[in-house]
Amino acid sequence: MPKLIFDHSGDEIELEEGAPIAEACEEAGVPFACTEGVCGTCVIEIKEGKEHLSRPTQEELDFLGDGTCDERLACQCRIKQGCVKITF
Ligand code: FES
Repeated sequence: MPKLIFDHSGDEIELEEGAPIAEACEEAGVPFACTEGVCGTCVIEIKEGKEHLSRPTQEELDFLGDGTCDERLACQCRIKQGCVKITF
């Protein structure tokens, strides 16, 4: 099962394949506002496993640039497989 790991606390949360990570991030304390990829409030940094996340949405590309940085918008990501370690 794909797993989301929070770097600051060491908490690990298992998610269904293809599940959005937003709810788990919100429970861990990531702030959210628009939930539509527009405001940038939910920006997170991917420490490991960014290849295991869904491709950046158009909203993320518009907000974060060309997708080569380690930042993502938590409201837009889905986890595909493996372990993804994030911090915020
Ligand atoms: S909550 Fe606004 S971009 Fe994610």
